[in-house]
Amino acid sequence: MTDNATVTGGCPFRGTRIEGAQGLGPTLEDWWPDRLRVELLHQQTDLANPLGADFDYAKAFETIDLNELKNDIFEMLKTSQDWWPADYGHYGPQMIRMAWHAAGTYRIADGRGGAGSALQRFLPIDSWVDNGNTDKSRRLLWPIKQKYGSALSWADLMVLTGNCALEAMGFKTFGFGGGRLDGWQADSATYWGAETEMQGRSRWHGDPKGEYYDLENPVAASEMSLIYVNPEGPGGNSDPLSSAREIRETFARMAMNDEETVALIAGGHAFGKSHGAVAKEHIGPAPAGASIETQGFGWMNSAGTGNAEFTMTNGIEGSWTSEPTKWDAEYLHNLFNFEWELTESPAGAKQWRPTVATLEATTPDAHIEGKRNPLMMMTSDIALRDDPAYAKICRRYLDNMSEFEDAFSRAWYKLTHRDMGPKVRYLGAEVPAESLIWQDPIPKLDHDPIDSTDIADLKAKILAMGLSVSELVGTAWASASTFRSSDKRGGANGARIRLAPQKDWEVNQPQQLAKVLSALEGVQKMFNDAQTGNKQVSLADLIVLGGCAGVDRAARDAGVEVDVPFTPGRMDAKPEDTDIESFEWLHPVVDGFRNFQQRQFKVACEVFLIDRANLLTLTAPQLTALIGGLRAIGINWDGSKHGAFTERPGVLSNDFFVNLFDMATVWTATNNEKTAFEGRDRQTGQPKWTATRADLVFGSDPQLRAVGEVYAANDGHQRLVRDFVAAWDKVMMLDRFDVPNRGRVG
Ligand code: HEM
Repeated sequence: MTDNATVTGGCPFRGTRIEGAQGLGPTLEDWWPDRLRVELLHQQTDLANPLGADFDYAKAFETIDLNELKNDIFEMLKTSQDWWPADYGHYGPQMIRMAWHAAGTYRIADGRGGAGSALQRFLPIDSWVDNGNTDKSRRLLWPIKQKYGSALSWADLMVLTGNCALEAMGFKTFGFGGGRLDGWQADSATYWGAETEMQGRSRWHGDPKGEYYDLENPVAASEMSLIYVNPEGPGGNSDPLSSAREIRETFARMAMNDEETVALIAGGHAFGKSHGAVAKEHIGPAPAGASIETQGFGWMNSAGTGNAEFTMTNGIEGSWTSEPTKWDAEYLHNLFNFEWELTESPAGAKQWRPTVATLEATTPDAHIEGKRNPLMMMTSDIALRDDPAYAKICRRYLDNMSEFEDAFSRAWYKLTHRDMGPKVRYLGAEVPAESLIWQDPIPKLDHDPIDSTDIADLKAKILAMGLSVSELVGTAWASASTFRSSDKRGGANGARIRLAPQKDWEVNQPQQLAKVLSALEGVQKMFNDAQTGNKQVSLADLIVLGGCAGVDRAARDAGVEVDVPFTPGRMDAKPEDTDIESFEWLHPVVDGFRNFQQRQFKVACEVFLIDRANLLTLTAPQLTALIGGLRAIGINWDGSKHGAFTERPGVLSNDFFVNLFDMATVWTATNNEKTAFEGRDRQTGQPKWTATRADLVFGSDPQLRAVGEVYAANDGHQRLVRDFVAAWDKVMMLDRFDVPNRGRVG
């Protein structure tokens, strides 16, 4: 490339060569691998979105005739294209795999991954080993995407196509909700594991056969660049039992239990085939490494026609059933009906075939008329037979087809919709009426919300209760800040902070929380009892209103009059609609906003702070304003003074930044881990302040410091209060999908 790029001098360039350009390495990380990547907060900016920030997808989606769209998909499924001939003349199976791989990246630990923004189109996911030839599936969908344009996101189209594929082959799906907003660039904020080689496994710790065998959080795949597990067993060891162990762990990371796991695998592998017809040497690089003229395709295959009977994707060759485009339980039947022995595919992959060579143990070739091939199972399939708990469920499903069908349809629905957040986000005529516990249901608004007079009146009542500003602000913050934009769970709506497990989290200061909630319940009762019409106030609203009242007062005490916005209409969730185990995943183990760190991790506390800010969709200025304000108000989880660089606690001042940047203070670490610090007067040596890394990073990181300087300047205080209030309102409203135009959280 450099040779071709040679320039032969002349104005305006001097010299004859150009060997560098924007974006080429070395990157900042090459120079300083440990630097804080604050810019990750701005990676999903609307600047990259060609539809613009104001594009109303829900309105556009409404214009689609869902039946017409589904018919277009059904037609596509059975129209084989010469450039990628369909196995068995039907694209259904490969489309199910595409949709499953889109959704299967989801992990419950941080809610990232999933089908929600069609990130299978971008790096790194488009070029993962496990996504081999999903580029062809997506390209087959292009004419449909082109027809419906912006009214149909790629993300919705991919999931809907998975549903249609199942339906076209005889399976009744549970339903479909549209409403996914496409991403527009590669996702560099998600941690997919530390390995730098495909299929690296350094994420596992302990003994694969021992009691302690742990998969690093938040990842949910057993090897780098896989969706779940290696089909050939861990590291390709062909051992079904150790495969079962990894299947259980990785599916649990997606909140799937054994029943759901068996249903998904047995349901999915009722269809299609694996591809390993030719040696791996014939296969070119993944899309990211492929030549420009392949136009986004990867894994170009130099054997034969490079497709159809020459296709090589994963390396394993063959089908699980004799009718791979028809829904049935033959997969389970075959799993137990035959004895299976280890063999090798033409591509050299380890797989299993029946020990007998009867006709029943074969399946038609996907392309060659009249040819039959032995049935196939992967090590990860044999795992379902060899693991006693999985085997029991398989046999139950075998004996009870309708239970199997119900389990698969529900698990598929959960798999493909899990990261969509509350049901109010679902669009279209196929949204099932039934609410499911993993949707974290919140009852529909059943009363008239409070108006501006009530709001003022209630604020005054709350402030008169004797609770401190810090208690009110801290409680509202604890309630709202569980939100994560990744899977749109958490947030203040539902008031789940009053329920297990959140009410007992150490970071939420259970005793103080109980006191504040009980006071707010008193106000709620008084207000609701006094109503004669249909007007009521929920506790969820009062918790947020209490925080707003606290911010009002803190600003006023700092000499700034502000109107902290408040939008009523929240409802209180029921305990029986709250999946305690699944909510436990929202428990912050490190929370820089409240200076909380449950224990020490390899990852520094400030990295968690950026990660958390990213999940809250905060920009660097919003994060900085919030930290400055919250430190001044004082909401540390343990009431400690870390970061409280002020003589006026509870007042919304800019003291945090002014004092942090004051050269009269010298900072030293007070422990070897460098997690706690002390600031002393440079002249007298007198101790002045204490801090954590989540405080000092606003002085040490150049980008955060640049923002903090704006707020510390003589003209910065008003701006800080204004920005704090705006960012506060944003966090309080993050989960209000019921409010039109509340802002886009992609
Ligand atoms: C195909 C592995 C779970 C649906 C495949 C292939 C592999 C594989 C290696 C062959 C890819 C190729 O060479 O073309 C696994 C493993 C799983 C798993 C290790 C988990 C332990 C699932 C689930 C579903 C699913 C949960 C859907 C619910 C499919 C389908 C195909 C397939 C439909 C056929 C694709 C085609 O015909 O082109 N799977 N899978 N799989 N998988 Fe899975």
